[in-house]
Amino acid sequence: MAKQTVTVIRGDGIGPSIIDSAIEILNAAGCDFEYEYVDAGLAALEKTGELLPPETLEAIERNKLTLKGPLTTPVGEGFTSINVTLRKQFGLYANVRPVKSFEGTQARYDNIDIITVRENTQGMYSGLGQVTSEDGTEAEAMSKITREGAEKIVTFAYELAQREGRKKVTAVHKANILKSTSGLFLKVAREVGERFPDIESAEMIVDATCMKLVMNPDEFDVVVTTNLFGDIISDLCAGLVGGLGMAPGANIGENAAIFEAVHGSAPDIAGKNLANPTSVILASIQMLEYLDMGETAERIRSAVADVIKSGDRTTRDLGGNHGTTDFTKAVIERL
Ligand SMILES: NC(=O)c1ccc[n+]([C@@H]2O[C@H](COP(=O)([O-])OP(=O)(O)OC[C@H]3O[C@@H](n4cnc5c(N)ncnc54)[C@H](O)[C@@H]3O)[C@@H](O)[C@H]2O)c1
Repeated sequence: MAKQTVTVIRGDGIGPSIIDSAIEILNAAGCDFEYEYVDAGLAALEKTGELLPPETLEAIERNKLTLKGPLTTPVGEGFTSINVTLRKQFGLYANVRPVKSFEGTQARYDNIDIITVRENTQGMYSGLGQVTSEDGTEAEAMSKITREGAEKIVTFAYELAQREGRKKVTAVHKANILKSTSGLFLKVAREVGERFPDIESAEMIVDATCMKLVMNPDEFDVVVTTNLFGDIISDLCAGLVGGLGMAPGANIGENAAIFEAVHGSAPDIAGKNLANPTSVILASIQMLEYLDMGETAERIRSAVADVIKSGDRTTRDLGGNHGTTDFTKAVIERL
């Protein structure tokens, strides 16, 4: 059988060091992938004058699977977010962001296990109707939700819940104020929920959700929501398990999937061997699960868990005083 090829975008800032760490770990765990390296973001801009060169888009399309480091979007007019562009271009409608407690982190709770399923292409981030008046005193943007988009993402969340033996799906919305967009999302979420009688369906307004996530996270299992709310809630969830260094995300569509860390390129610590690679390692674990390689995924997860629990060569954000490369060696030794 032909080897599976994975497109790799090492990314900007801390991206190359954490991506290299994840790939060393995949290799040490015996994964037999081919890797096709392509550029995006600042690295691509410097080499080709484009943030997203055509070769990169072709590789993402051809190989279907991409492991991606964080990208820096240059500040200023004329640069649209590369991540938003990729999600739209490849129809990556589902953004799956799991958070799980690891013993040994300096987190507020030790029993968190929540998956946020965020609609990834519509809502406030669709980029539609962005206008600022000439005199700079008024600005507008448009939010668009479709029945098809809402149905796809909510169905995805229930099917994921079913597959992973989860008990409850909470639809998060603001239908009391955003009556058209959030209203349609909630209506569709209720309809889809009825098709899954074995899974408990709940609904919650987004502001109350934030408060309850902080006060009583046990109430949550799978959360499904629109783009903007999902972006914010998933960072809040990352905070519950010890910060952005612990949070992976998968962008999944019908014909392609991109696995990445939730955090950015961390320019403040770039090039200093200080980054915690766990988020990208967990993203590569999501990729293995997507490929039905659950056993290898579990072996890597338990090696990472053991390093964090024992405090053996952990990074600064985890309370240790070691670098990315030492952390990676500690994980590989346990494999
Ligand atoms: N998926 C992506 O590609 C993505 C996501 C968010 C931001 N960005 C981009 O990243 C750049 C920097 O953004 P920012 O500074 O607002 O957010 P950031 O997530 O890069 O950093 C926020 C803070 O968290 C720390 N941090 C992040 N990841 C860490 C890790 N793995 N280990 C240890 N500490 C870590 C950083 O040092 C920083 O103090 C911007 O250009 C932004 O557009 C990209």
